[in-house]
Amino acid sequence: MTTPSISIIGCGRVGTALAVFLARAGFPLAGVASRSLASARNTARLAGAGQVFDTPTDAAKNGNVLFITTPDAAIEGVFADLVAQKALQSGSVVFHCSGALSSGILVKEGTAGIATGSIHPLQSFAPCEAGQASPFKGINISVEGDDSAVELGTRMVEALGGVSFTIPTRAKTLYHAAAVVASNYLVTLERFAIDLLREAELSEARAYEILSPLILGTLSNIGNRGTVAALTGPVARGDREIVERHMADIEKVRPEYSELYRLLGQYTLKIAREGGDLDPGSADRLEALFKPPGS
Ligand SMILES: NC(=O)c1ccc[n+]([C@@H]2O[C@H](COP(=O)([O-])OP(=O)(O)OC[C@H]3O[C@@H](n4cnc5c(N)ncnc54)[C@H](OP(=O)(O)O)[C@@H]3O)[C@@H](O)[C@H]2O)c1
Repeated sequence: MTTPSISIIGCGRVGTALAVFLARAGFPLAGVASRSLASARNTARLAGAGQVFDTPTDAAKNGNVLFITTPDAAIEGVFADLVAQKALQSGSVVFHCSGALSSGILVKEGTAGIATGSIHPLQSFAPCEAGQASPFKGINISVEGDDSAVELGTRMVEALGGVSFTIPTRAKTLYHAAAVVASNYLVTLERFAIDLLREAELSEARAYEILSPLILGTLSNIGNRGTVAALTGPVARGDREIVERHMADIEKVRPEYSELYRLLGQYTLKIAREGGDLDPGSADRLEALFKPPGS
């Protein structure tokens, strides 16, 4: 298997980390280019390799695997320019690293013989510094795209010490939505709980301290036993009276959370029903409670 040479366009956090650690893993760094020459020079300096080019077109022409690591909004335009300038040779592979966008944005007329893919590390990157440890080590990294791009992408992820997994191109947006729900919306959920504890005269820091064993224990139960078995509490027990009291007090002191509590209750009830331990009468009474007001 031949080792392809890499060009990086967009020398920011991810582009620089890829340049440094792919070069270190034995992938020759052919070229780097960015919006500014200073960023491209900095990347080549940190990688200890890679010719610095004024334009993405020249950098692309110099390698046979290209990473477009610009901000998401610029990826499509950079790719379109490369295609228009005929900078991509047949047999080359083009990747981007967006989590929200799929390789589907890299399809243009005149790209026959060019494979495209995306490689997305589920990780937040800080600017690359000299001597730093690899930010890819042990990180889950999704790969999708054309078969040959997925094959090469997986090989590169493994060489970087990451943990690769493949997703279908059509599911890329849902994959990103999942990450947002699991991470960002978890913050919102914990903020909801913390705000209720603030009504019990606890500071945000103390509220989190009190909740954290419960949060971490629940996450561990999901990991060990799955979501259905991890569910405990009044909805899982079918305790309508308790839930009704929650709803009444939330409406009294933090009415902005009433709708969220009701909706979360609806979805929690679905999980409780899946468990099979909830008697159907209690489940139906809870369902009526969680219906939108006036419906
Ligand atoms: N940061 C993260 O935590 C993270 C995690 C996973 C995936 N990603 C993805 O990785 C990709 C890069 O993100 P990033 O965080 O590395 O971005 P970043 O630090 O903002 O770097 C983007 C780089 O692209 C360059 N650039 C902007 N427009 C350009 C253009 N038209 N042509 C050439 N270069 C251009 C910028 O140039 P100059 O410096 O030269 O001005 C900058 O160095 C994105 O798709 C992002 O979604 C990021």
